[in-house]
Amino acid sequence: MSDDHILIERRGAVQVIRLNRPDKKNAITRAMYDRMAEALRSGDEDADVRVHVFLGSPGAFSSGNDLQDFLAIAMGGEHGSDVWAFLNALATAQKPVVSGVDGLAIGIGTTIQLHCDLTFATPASLFKTPFTDLALVPEAASSLLAPQVMGPQRAFALLGMGEGFSAEDAHAAGLIWKIVEADALESEVMAAAETLAAKPPEALRLAKKLLKGPREPVLDRLREEGALFLERLKSDEAREAFMAFMARKK
Ligand code: COA
Repeated sequence: MSDDHILIERRGAVQVIRLNRPDKKNAITRAMYDRMAEALRSGDEDADVRVHVFLGSPGAFSSGNDLQDFLAIAMGGEHGSDVWAFLNALATAQKPVVSGVDGLAIGIGTTIQLHCDLTFATPASLFKTPFTDLALVPEAASSLLAPQVMGPQRAFALLGMGEGFSAEDAHAAGLIWKIVEADALESEVMAAAETLAAKPPEALRLAKKLLKGPREPVLDRLREEGALFLERLKSDEAREAFMAFMARKK
């Protein structure tokens, strides 16, 4: 990948991790997961970083996992530990994670938000996880976290049925904190991040730890989902779904 697909920037005590592959609607490749995992880990260890921020591009936070990468695994290619490393780093991040979504938040673009501490989204945002349409299962411990956040029926509509949630739906479901206009998204995200960054860091770390609760059940669910997900990736029906996407007529 080009290193430019994930841009890491330090603004004072805020580390901004920006998805930057707009021509593919910010579909996330394995190299991009690697880079985000490393940024989260190193930022967590660096006393000068107090808050992590995720941002995407105008119109696309992310279209989810790169389907070409999924197809490669479905066709017998090696799977790496990159997604696991990223999800593990995100689920165990000690510093607050603030996210800004405009437009598409598909698949992991949605499930990332379940781990963020504050998500701002624009009115044009769409949260959707077509896992079962792709013959896959929910990931990122979403099968555990989404029912906790929004109740079992809304979680099933999102994760089992693949219903799209508008920004309003996502707000009502508790998936996001605030809806803000597109031209104010980045400034609102940065203002929240800077407010957090100005707080006593140890108190903030402890507050986040208490609010997140024990990580073991989350890491257990990540592993359980991951094993099923990998099995499903190699199924005939998943392979067919990926090939149908590649062959689709626009
Ligand atoms: N993986 C790889 N490439 C992707 C992608 C993905 N997840 N999502 C979009 N792209 C690529 C498209 O192939 C296209 O590339 P091309 O211009 O070289 O043909 C480009 O990004 C733009 O996508 P396009 O489909 O033309 O944009 P759109 O606005 O019409 O539709 C989506 C956007 C996200 C609705 C549609 O691309 C889509 O359904 N993507 C797959 C989403 C998905 O299933 N993700 C995995 C979830 S587990």
